[in-house]
Amino acid sequence: MSPTHTSDVLVVGGGIIGLVTAWRAAQRGFATAVVDPDPGGGAAQVAAGMLAAVTELHYGEQTLLGLNLASARRYPDFAAELTEATGHDLGYRRCGTLAVALDADDRAQLRELHALQRRSGLESEWLNGRECRRLEPMLAPGVRGGLRVDGDHQIDPRRLAKALVVACERAGVVFHRVWAERLFLVRGRAAGVVTRDGAELAAGQIVLAGGSLSGQLAGVPDDVLPPVRPVKGQVLRLTVPKRYAPFLSRTVRAVVRGSQIYLVPRESGELVVGATSEELGWDTTVTAGGVYELLRDAHELVPGITELPLTETRAGLRPGSPDNAPLLGPTELDGLLLATGHFRNGVLLTPVTGDAMAHVLTTGELPDEARPFTPRRFSTAVLTEQSA
Ligand code: GLY
Repeated sequence: MSPTHTSDVLVVGGGIIGLVTAWRAAQRGFATAVVDPDPGGGAAQVAAGMLAAVTELHYGEQTLLGLNLASARRYPDFAAELTEATGHDLGYRRCGTLAVALDADDRAQLRELHALQRRSGLESEWLNGRECRRLEPMLAPGVRGGLRVDGDHQIDPRRLAKALVVACERAGVVFHRVWAERLFLVRGRAAGVVTRDGAELAAGQIVLAGGSLSGQLAGVPDDVLPPVRPVKGQVLRLTVPKRYAPFLSRTVRAVVRGSQIYLVPRESGELVVGATSEELGWDTTVTAGGVYELLRDAHELVPGITELPLTETRAGLRPGSPDNAPLLGPTELDGLLLATGHFRNGVLLTPVTGDAMAHVLTTGELPDEARPFTPRRFSTAVLTEQSA
């Protein structure tokens, strides 16, 4: 069978990571195609869009922190370039984040996070409860203290996804709106995919950017298949009527009974409340329990939310990886690269991923800041070496 279509670069998956890869590849002069039944869909349709390198810092993720910060630094120019290329407003808001504590245990935990942030050279300021409420008057009277992080911003991921589709179209990226069903090899090298409608899409280089589905593409050899799993997140959207504005002026977040809760206020009046984190495979059911817990925890933080219309409930699947960090660049199979496993940080990592993938597609090498995220860190040979 002769290929229906041939390109230099074929991106499998048209979520924000696949799209930014395709956009940057096309800008470098590659004839680029994306295969996805619904480009611009995927986890970005559910994500809150926090650009929270500092407040989402976790112990053991200091290497990832470097990549997160590199991407956060690129956001202003990235957003300006994408808006310039498309005319789309991305809802990029440099509003800052306030992470608060509701009881003594939370406060102790937040103090620990503050110490870790300072050791990592990050900017954050400790505020007492009164100072927190002065900044955000809708906070519960019981708030015991918090961390003000002016450098953690937000963007609207739905607008970002839409703009990336338009930017790709304008840069000449070809969209195949169909499922990729199977990778095919020619002389031991990844050479293209067969789509659900039986077409063959051939390419010089193939980037697998299928989000949580990245481990599902048939034909990918087992030792190359990315170890990515779906991690369910339920998210609510409320609307702040104009008479209540400004309800919150920045992202407010906390850990309540061990669960992350965040409220992300958009300029449009949308208030995003997230998110559960559930290891339930491919389940995207919105459950009464999930909605209840989110509303209960958000209400403890900001009691006034019960007045707001609840406009949407939805669940998405984060692409989790074994070390919570993305897999970027060449695999052990010639011609096949990965851009997946971004877990909680897909929106934040979009700019740096686009740049890193364009670099590796052009030179064959990852740029320095992306080297630790090579998929080869999970290859059987490396893992055997490490355990020996
Ligand atoms: N980054 C927020 C979340 O994954 O819920």
